[in-house]
Amino acid sequence: MTVKVFAPAKINLTLHVTGQREDGYHLLDSLVAFVDQGDQVTATPATVSALSVTGPFAQGVPTDSSNLVMLAAGLAGFPMSLTLDKRLPPASGIGGGSADAAATLRAAARLGAKPVIAEGALSLGADVPVCLGAKPVRMSGIGEALTPVSMPALHMVLVNPRVEVSTPEVFKSLESKTNAAMPEVLPDWPDSLSFIDWLSTQRNDLEAPAVKRVPEVAAALAALALAPGAQMLRMSGSGATCFALFENRYTADAAALQLADSNPWWWVKSASTLPG
Ligand code: C5P
Repeated sequence: MTVKVFAPAKINLTLHVTGQREDGYHLLDSLVAFVDQGDQVTATPATVSALSVTGPFAQGVPTDSSNLVMLAAGLAGFPMSLTLDKRLPPASGIGGGSADAAATLRAAARLGAKPVIAEGALSLGADVPVCLGAKPVRMSGIGEALTPVSMPALHMVLVNPRVEVSTPEVFKSLESKTNAAMPEVLPDWPDSLSFIDWLSTQRNDLEAPAVKRVPEVAAALAALALAPGAQMLRMSGSGATCFALFENRYTADAAALQLADSNPWWWVKSASTLPG
């Protein structure tokens, strides 16, 4: 039996850094959604575990135990032959390796593995628990505390200026580690427009340190700001991928075509959020 599991990109619609633990990990308050762009993991039970990587971003992706997919496969309890179709740019603030690890855990469960406990997913990386659910949530703690959130559908353009960003370096460059959280009780958003208006009053605290380290993030944000119909823009995670929100998928598609045309080196995709 072979199973195919989609590993959707994770978008931090907001990302507030509210503190730091003694072990160095940061406390976050982040609204997270998943979109219809992603990698794909294919898994088949086998006599030994092995990974092959295909797709536009396969080059340079390790196939040994330094790949989170292999570490996740190690939790399955039986060997698997795995293929990772890498369509998302690596080290880009939209899940990537964490989404792949979560998809591997889901594939293993569909092949009969015992579901991993939350601690198992967290041991692979702070973003793996949220990627395992792949549903809209408010994420806090270092990424392990997840509260489902019902949110209107969003349509967006994702832009990655093709520069890999080191998450620890961006966290290290944060000027303040104790910033305001989102409101304790989130408002109701009757429609996408009111949601987008509210989102624009929130932040990604990693945006300023990322821009300082990687000027291309500012270039991506500037290009998105000029896109016709862009309603609100922000960086996701620790960057460098940035997104702009649009009224509908048609305007997002048109803006993505235009941005890709004028920035042929960049990774540019239109995307819509997956329902909860
Ligand atoms: O857990 P993961 O390996 O994905 O995290 C990568 C790095 O990002 C950590 O080593 C840490 O430096 C930083 N990080 C953090 N606080 C978080 C998540 C990640 O400081 N909540």
